Amino acid sequence: MFKGFLRRLGMIGGATIVAIGLSTGVSIAATPSDSGISASALDVTAPPTTRQALAKAQPVSAQHAMVVTAQHLATKVGVNVLKQGGNAVDAAVAVGYALAVVHPCCGNIGGGGFMVLHLAKSADHPERNLFLDFREKAPEKATPTLFQDADGNVVDGRSTKTYLGTGVPGTVMGLEEARRRFGTMSRKQLMAPAIRLARQGFTLEQGDVNILHERSDDFADQPNVAKIFLNHGKPYQVGDTLKQPQLAHTLSLISKQGTKAFYHGAIAKAVVKASKAHGGILTLQDFADYTAPWGQPVTCGYHGYTVVSTPPPSSGGTTICEILGILDPLPLQQWGYGSVKTSHYLIEAERRAFADRNTYLGDPAFVHNPIDKLLSADHLAQLRDSINPDEATPSSQIHGSLGPREGQHTTQYSVVDDQGNAVSVTYTINYLFGNGHIAGNTGFFLNNEMDDFTAKPGVPNAFGLVQGKANQVEGGKRPLSSMSPSLVLKNGNLFMVTGSPGGSTIISTTLESMLNVIDFGMNVQQAVNAPRIHNQWLPDRTKVEPGYLTDSVKQKLEAMGHSFHVVRSWGADEAILRHADGTLEGANDRRRPAGLAAGY
Ligand code: DON
Repeated sequence: MFKGFLRRLGMIGGATIVAIGLSTGVSIAATPSDSGISASALDVTAPPTTRQALAKAQPVSAQHAMVVTAQHLATKVGVNVLKQGGNAVDAAVAVGYALAVVHPCCGNIGGGGFMVLHLAKSADHPERNLFLDFREKAPEKATPTLFQDADGNVVDGRSTKTYLGTGVPGTVMGLEEARRRFGTMSRKQLMAPAIRLARQGFTLEQGDVNILHERSDDFADQPNVAKIFLNHGKPYQVGDTLKQPQLAHTLSLISKQGTKAFYHGAIAKAVVKASKAHGGILTLQDFADYTAPWGQPVTCGYHGYTVVSTPPPSSGGTTICEILGILDPLPLQQWGYGSVKTSHYLIEAERRAFADRNTYLGDPAFVHNPIDKLLSADHLAQLRDSINPDEATPSSQIHGSLGPREGQHTTQYSVVDDQGNAVSVTYTINYLFGNGHIAGNTGFFLNNEMDDFTAKPGVPNAFGLVQGKANQVEGGKRPLSSMSPSLVLKNGNLFMVTGSPGGSTIISTTLESMLNVIDFGMNVQQAVNAPRIHNQWLPDRTKVEPGYLTDSVKQKLEAMGHSFHVVRSWGADEAILRHADGTLEGANDRRRPAGLAAGY
């Protein structure tokens, strides 16, 4: 299988090896905003890869258990919990709090996310898959026109830079709910490493500093932020120690008092006070009303595997399954990674599925999500048949395919324990370092997740997503997300844990990691390292990472009507593969060099 993959990459048979980042003949967008995505939302610091490097990429192996996260110290926290006898949920809770300290752009207690869980068959219970929703909620006072001025124009920055952009954070409720139901260790035990890292500090490496530097200018604007995230007014450098005593205090309160401290106590009060002082609308009642419900994941079959992923309020699972359903009968394996045919059908499937995503999906507490119809065999066949094999379909000709609507900065981590239980978590504060605000002395960044709503139908958000009424702002509603922490099963047993940050690109990133393993025979490190491609219906052009397109493939696709925009890098899939004999392989995405896959 591996040889076959190398052959398809042109690595054997005497083919010339070129630095694929240099072979595309197109300029690379320096910032993601050039591609319709806000520059504050994505980490684009990773250099391009080469096909030579890709062919050599190898995952980390372990016999019993594995943790992969975007920051090496958080990975070690998780591995220690597993070695002490904790299960995958225990490790996921400890990692969730540790990342809030050592990966402050994205790990958080000021945001929210999703957990997808696989409980392996045991003497006590059959195999089970579960979904935990700890997505932020809009404050009760939010209205559909919150981000518009009196003339109905969307006000630049209101949903991203102000307290109006902040939804009620869900992370603490989510981690506590997971621990309460499936954990075996105390909150105190699981939070101790995070509190220690915050209080004693940790040494910054290049990967940490790269991300801090992306928003160092903004930190200077807020004295209470600058005090923590600038070093006497200057950006932190490699080798410096980052200490966060205020965050240590906040985490200690949670460790002692649990969710009460966050949703009914001192922390809620501090956030509401700061919000009111800066024109926000959060109330103590909003915090008191917050819940993190359990639900059923979205599942679908693909080439003999079962994909288990997120239902609404995430669009991830539904959209991934819709794309996979369109592609299912096509011979991707024969066409190969990055070929003209694979790329054409992948772009066209993504274009159609994103049009449906943006039209029909929203918080299930507010709108009906027609998932059964979107994933029905008839509908998938109809979408597949609408793809012209020789020509790109302009996005202007694609609309939500069920007719009018009926009725009306992020990080991924993955854990597998020695029982075969698996946890996939993506959580976020939306932009890198959220809205850039810290309430008083709480020490943690607040999210700007409200930007994921439709500020006005037809007006793109920070990820360039053009969405409709199903996702309009409403009090108490959860904004539609693209986060897609996912699992792939084979014969009911865990095969793969995957997911990524990257806003709208999360969906294609997660999906393509699956295709890279299932269809293209890559190992899991190659699968997450491989250059990516992304189409989201609007804007009508396809983002590619350098190295995805060879010159000849690009020319042929352009002749078919495709247009491309090369962006340096996006996403960070922290993935695990489990072989039938129980051996585990972990892969930290090369795009987050501070990250680590480790096991025992
Ligand atoms: O939930 C979503 O879809 C977005 N708020 C995720 C943001 C994100 O991935 C930013 N990370 N790079």
